[in-house]
Amino acid sequence: MLKKIGIITRDCAGINAAIRAVVRTATVQGVEVFGIIKSYDGLIDGIFQPLDRRAVSGIINLGGTILKSARSDRFLTPEGQLQAVKTIKENGFDGLIVIGGNGSLTGAHVLASKYGIKVIGLPATIDNDVNEVDFCLGADTSVNVALDALDKIRDTATSLERIFVVEVMGRHCGYLAMKVALAGGCEDVILPEQDFSLEEICQEIKAGNAQGKVSWIVIVAEGKARAQDVGEAISQRTGLETRIAVLGHIQRGGRPTAFDRILAAKLGKAAVDSLLAGESDKCVSLKDDRIELVPLEVATRPKKLKFEEEYQLLKLLS
Ligand code: F6P
Repeated sequence: MLKKIGIITRDCAGINAAIRAVVRTATVQGVEVFGIIKSYDGLIDGIFQPLDRRAVSGIINLGGTILKSARSDRFLTPEGQLQAVKTIKENGFDGLIVIGGNGSLTGAHVLASKYGIKVIGLPATIDNDVNEVDFCLGADTSVNVALDALDKIRDTATSLERIFVVEVMGRHCGYLAMKVALAGGCEDVILPEQDFSLEEICQEIKAGNAQGKVSWIVIVAEGKARAQDVGEAISQRTGLETRIAVLGHIQRGGRPTAFDRILAAKLGKAAVDSLLAGESDKCVSLKDDRIELVPLEVATRPKKLKFEEEYQLLKLLS
């Protein structure tokens, strides 16, 4: 019988909406909910706060996480993990819901598989790179935030007839870069998943320029190259002026889109329902508008994203 659960979060848009969905679904079932402050560090130090229906009022539209978050080096050690398990047991938590990307879900898998704690994961990362999960919370908002910035850059690129190189987030993953480039009508995109040739990009720019084309936007995923280097190389090889923009962490904040809020509602409810049904060591996922449970052991394996088709489409249309 589930009586008391904790929530751990990472940070991206839509997480507060998910906290709200978890709290309200659980409290209707008579389950008490506590928010663990600063992720796994808070679990180790036993820092948490009760979350009732009222505590999650007015947060559906807020970016970030009301619970704060941190990377926890201590949780990577067996001592830290044992201390976290002690907090869970001593405080009578019957289960945990962990909301975050690969790092957070790996921690959830450790707690469930190594220490027998009941844990359900809720995938949330702007990189959208949780294996076997189509939609991670926060990714849609990030694409839209980056696109909004890009549209503004396009105004200047067009008016001043310039080449812009725009760096977006995505340390190991080109999801954000590919989607923003396609949605923003960019001329090229440099992705961690694909080789690229600066020589080819410059040849295309020179050929286009010879035919009267005057502005370009090239997106770079931070995990593959730096905008500064790409911009300088393009200037040197083409003789044309370039400007760079590094969008940075604005892409992880902001008001969640309608898509992310609805996803948060569905996944938050499903996470509580799954714990109540006795499930553990799995994460909730939405596929064809139906909830699926993906074993955390599978979800935390590296995801192999392929962008060839979307890249070809971008090149066709640019
Ligand atoms: O994993 C999500 C992500 O936003 C990546 O795209 C980015 O490279 C990384 O996190 C940045 O992490 P931090 O904010 O801890 O530097």
